[in-house]
Amino acid sequence: MCGIIGYLGPHQASPIIIEALRRLEYRGYDSAGIATLDNGTLNRRRTSGRINNLADSLVQEPIRGKIGIGHTRWATHGLPNEQNAHPHNSCSISVVHNGIIENFKQIKENLLTQGYEFSSETDTEVVPILVQSFIDRNAKPIEAVHQAMKVLQGQFALCFLFAGEDDVIIVARQGSPLVIGHDQDAMFVASDALGLAGLTDNITYLEDGDSAIISQQELIIFDVNQKPVSRSKTIVSIDSAVNPKGNYKHFMLKEIHEQPESISRALESLFQSGQLNDQTVDQICQQPINWVNLIGCGTAYYACQIASYWFEKLIKIPARAEIASEFRYRNAVIKPDDLSIFVSQSGETADTLAALRYARDCHSNNLSILNNPACSMERESQRALSIHAGFEFSVASTKAFTSQLTVLLSLGLIIGYRKGTVTHEEFSTIKSDLFELPKLVDAVIGLRDDIIKIAEFISDCPAVIFIGRGLMYPTSLEGALKLKEVTYIHAEGIAAGELKHGPIALVDKTVPTVVLAPSNDLFVKTISNLKEIRARGGPVILLTDSEGLVQAGDDTNFALTLPKINPLLTPILYTVPLQLLAYFTATKKGLDVDKPRHLAKSVTVE
Ligand code: AGP
Repeated sequence: MCGIIGYLGPHQASPIIIEALRRLEYRGYDSAGIATLDNGTLNRRRTSGRINNLADSLVQEPIRGKIGIGHTRWATHGLPNEQNAHPHNSCSISVVHNGIIENFKQIKENLLTQGYEFSSETDTEVVPILVQSFIDRNAKPIEAVHQAMKVLQGQFALCFLFAGEDDVIIVARQGSPLVIGHDQDAMFVASDALGLAGLTDNITYLEDGDSAIISQQELIIFDVNQKPVSRSKTIVSIDSAVNPKGNYKHFMLKEIHEQPESISRALESLFQSGQLNDQTVDQICQQPINWVNLIGCGTAYYACQIASYWFEKLIKIPARAEIASEFRYRNAVIKPDDLSIFVSQSGETADTLAALRYARDCHSNNLSILNNPACSMERESQRALSIHAGFEFSVASTKAFTSQLTVLLSLGLIIGYRKGTVTHEEFSTIKSDLFELPKLVDAVIGLRDDIIKIAEFISDCPAVIFIGRGLMYPTSLEGALKLKEVTYIHAEGIAAGELKHGPIALVDKTVPTVVLAPSNDLFVKTISNLKEIRARGGPVILLTDSEGLVQAGDDTNFALTLPKINPLLTPILYTVPLQLLAYFTATKKGLDVDKPRHLAKSVTVE
């Protein structure tokens, strides 16, 4: 999604804004721009492509001013070119925007009839011109912004400069997050706190509907009713060494390797530091839970699917996984005794946030599983559990996924134990197996050389199929998504039992199948599917354990032997080689692994 930065202080704004925009690159973008005010005059520079293009342009022709706004654009309306890049201007206003103005067409038509002109294809350009139309009727800047907020529909985080106002930035948010940073002699604005890492850790999180006037002397915040309100400051511990790639070439590889530690942190936070202490479990179990809804998008949705199997097994109640963008629009039936669990790494995904609001309006007992502190979903959930995965820079979610799974399995285990559907012995065994997991994940990461060979084998294939049964089915969906999103190779996860119902027609010698088959109760049936594929000339890559290898390793193109573990934990372990397979295939293809084309880290618009 788009990234926003604002600066107001004693130094030239553009270099500070450029560096801060680089910290938001992980959000995904295709153009960038900056505007400053210098002695009352608005200056603007915009370029398509990477931030380096904007930085180079500013080296050639610097723009001055100690107050400025910057933007990285992830195109929603209009091509990713300079003309559509932000900031967008009217004759005396410059603005950057994250979100979507849903009624921009009507607003644009109305402004055109008033004689205002437009130069871009974007929805955003209506914002400065709408505010200008109020300024032209003698409204003060903040009054004009307040009037415009009453007209705009959709999601927006906005940051304004007004010609002649060298010491004022005005901001407004509805649906898209926005934070204000405080330093001794400077003020900042950002889409999220990470953009301010290394600049300040003293952050004010604006609430939905808030607007604010920011100056060196004061910060005046207005609530959704445009009444002055105070918002607390938070010290947010962001590692100021913001690009800690360490000795890894990409964040994705680094974050895959971090998983033994991130899973350990999740477990420690739940069982030792007491995130799931008796009081929290009491609160979650205070009402009878007769049904569990698990809702998320993308990888978070696959975590929900896996968790639905766990919850039914451990708590013995119906559990359904829902794609958030479907759940919020299909008038899902939610009862007050449902437990609705929302899973989101960023805590800002528009569809998941909207689904949370839908469930809340249905008075459902809700809980969010999150990774981003002080995100919108944390503020709007009855209660939240942190997965403690640490900041995830790569667009492809890896350590967040396995930490989401770790928290969800632990939650199902603890609720089952509390409700008596998990015996003390089962609880102890599964908990002990969970604490063994980091070591086993580390061992699987050690299979990298074998995985690199498989990556070389599949990197030129037109498509790859992933199959599994039971918990290995949603795991295969996640494996397919990882491959798709970082290599652009079409990949499909299929329930192995479904192959004969059509998809087996895809099999031929150019389309390999990754078979996820730990030696558990579904192993024999999955291997029969493997044989059906081999009989039709399809290459097979088998992921199993030592017992499975003995039984089925002979008839495969490649076989990876993973440690034998409690079947409940296989999704967490079997995901790791699939992450590495996607990573090494993408690097083999020379692709931009951490910032895949068209993708953003957090989809804060529908
Ligand atoms: C994961 O690899 C993808 N980048 C994407 O599917 C992501 O999981 C999805 O957009 C949900 O994001 P969230 O967890 O921040 O809500």
